[in-house]
Amino acid sequence: MSTQRAKLVVGNWKMHGRLAENAALLQAVAKGAGELPADVRVGVCVPTPYLAQAQSLLDGSRVMWGVQDVSAFTQGAYTGEVSAQMVTDFAATFAIVGHSERRAYHRESADLVAVKTQRALEAGLTPIVCVGETLDEREAGATEQVVGAQLDEVLAKLSVQEAARIVVAYEPVWAIGTGKSATAGQAQAVHAFLRGRLAAKGAEIAGVPLLYGGSVKPDNAEELFRQQDIDGGLIGGASLKDQDFLAICKAAAATTAAG
Ligand code: PGA
Repeated sequence: MSTQRAKLVVGNWKMHGRLAENAALLQAVAKGAGELPADVRVGVCVPTPYLAQAQSLLDGSRVMWGVQDVSAFTQGAYTGEVSAQMVTDFAATFAIVGHSERRAYHRESADLVAVKTQRALEAGLTPIVCVGETLDEREAGATEQVVGAQLDEVLAKLSVQEAARIVVAYEPVWAIGTGKSATAGQAQAVHAFLRGRLAAKGAEIAGVPLLYGGSVKPDNAEELFRQQDIDGGLIGGASLKDQDFLAICKAAAATTAAG
């Protein structure tokens, strides 16, 4: 039963936050997360300069932390890059890879996203691999083709054991930061498709957590999280407000066995 499955809720702060306001947000999230049932896992992906702050304020809490990107290189003369290994020095769990903002504004190709996924896995991080179609692609009926190709490019580079360690986030580009979430039905349909694509690679991979992202808010989270193939959310704007983020985590808890 979908409603019995554990949930994962991860905040994506994007390029927001400063030291002082982060401290208040991290402390409030750590405190609130302590009241959630064990089958709701929570994480926040902060801007990389604040990784040490996240570690010091979240260590010992229920909240895991991570980054929003990693380099495709392991080390060397790559000015401005941050390697997955460096991120692990701060006991991080997650690295978002292939977010649509990076694909669009930093021209990240599907191949580059796949290499970044490999680097994250090698370092022991859990990559949160983002896939999603634009509005034009949806209206052209190409949603499955687009997200399927994005996922396949990553899966092609991974062993079954590696693929079993990823998280996938379906984030329709037209729903990100627009206030216009996919309906629960629209999201579930794409999640079911992605689940099938994962299962085709191996039974071990069928259970990979599939997060929905794109204008998740306290008032639409529960309906989304109740869908059969939605295992949680990747939360942008609403993760910057402790009360909204915790309300979304509580909505996840309402859909699990313990909740
Ligand atoms: P949003 O962003 O929740 O602000 O739409 C989600 C994301 O881009 O991860």
